[in-house]
Amino acid sequence: MRPVLLFDSGIGGLTVLREMRLLGPAYPYVYVVDDAAFPYGAWEEDALREHLVVLFGKLIERWNPQAIVIACNTASTLVIHDVRKAYPDQCFVGTVPAIKPAAERTRSGLVSVLATPGTVKRQYTRDLIRDYGSKVHVRLVGSSALAGLAETYMRAGYVDEDAVRAEIAPCFLEQDGKRTDIVVLACTHYPFLVNRMRKVAPWPVDWIDPAEAIARRALSLLPPAEDADALPAGYAVFTSGRDDLAADRLLLTFGLEHVEG
Ligand code: DGL
Repeated sequence: MRPVLLFDSGIGGLTVLREMRLLGPAYPYVYVVDDAAFPYGAWEEDALREHLVVLFGKLIERWNPQAIVIACNTASTLVIHDVRKAYPDQCFVGTVPAIKPAAERTRSGLVSVLATPGTVKRQYTRDLIRDYGSKVHVRLVGSSALAGLAETYMRAGYVDEDAVRAEIAPCFLEQDGKRTDIVVLACTHYPFLVNRMRKVAPWPVDWIDPAEAIARRALSLLPPAEDADALPAGYAVFTSGRDDLAADRLLLTFGLEHVEG
């Protein structure tokens, strides 16, 4: 069976893979980590667009996937239209900030979107706010550090809570006696840190993690998986080609075996 390819600059897309495996265990998955280019949040838009369009071409040729899930907001908000145009026969599923559900759910009318500086800058994100968030106050908060903190946490088990506190602080707004009640996790790395975020947040909020919704959407586009006696193998590929034992250990816990690209 052709694999389903999940793609991110780092380990963030594993938050989506976790849901996909749970809801669609019979599909073979390939998880691609573009660690050679991490973090995407700091890239110039034109350079990142070009890099991604070329890389997706190579991945399609190598893996012939039945679908590609771009499990990365920073990449999806920039190139989802470009890659669909460049590879019209390929099914792509993107990950973009969950502004619509947040705007529907908020009671205070104050919503924050926590993302990389790249996602915060994107026209795509501004358009989502215009289309779905015009009746609420949406604050965009770009963090340059959180994706890296999540990488360290998942590989080494350590996170600097003061750094997390400082990064999320701008999400919490008090205005006319109302407070922010929803924070959208608009980077797939962030759900790995959500327990720490909860711990250091100045008051409780709903943290929206879109992973399950993305997984459901992706699976709804796939033909039913063939029944098998055993779970199909899952593979992980690193674009840097570097050996990273900590990452390998982590990927194994997600049922992925590290292979050469
Ligand atoms: N996981 C990525 C996202 O969802 C971004 C991490 C990075 O800065 O590369 O936006």
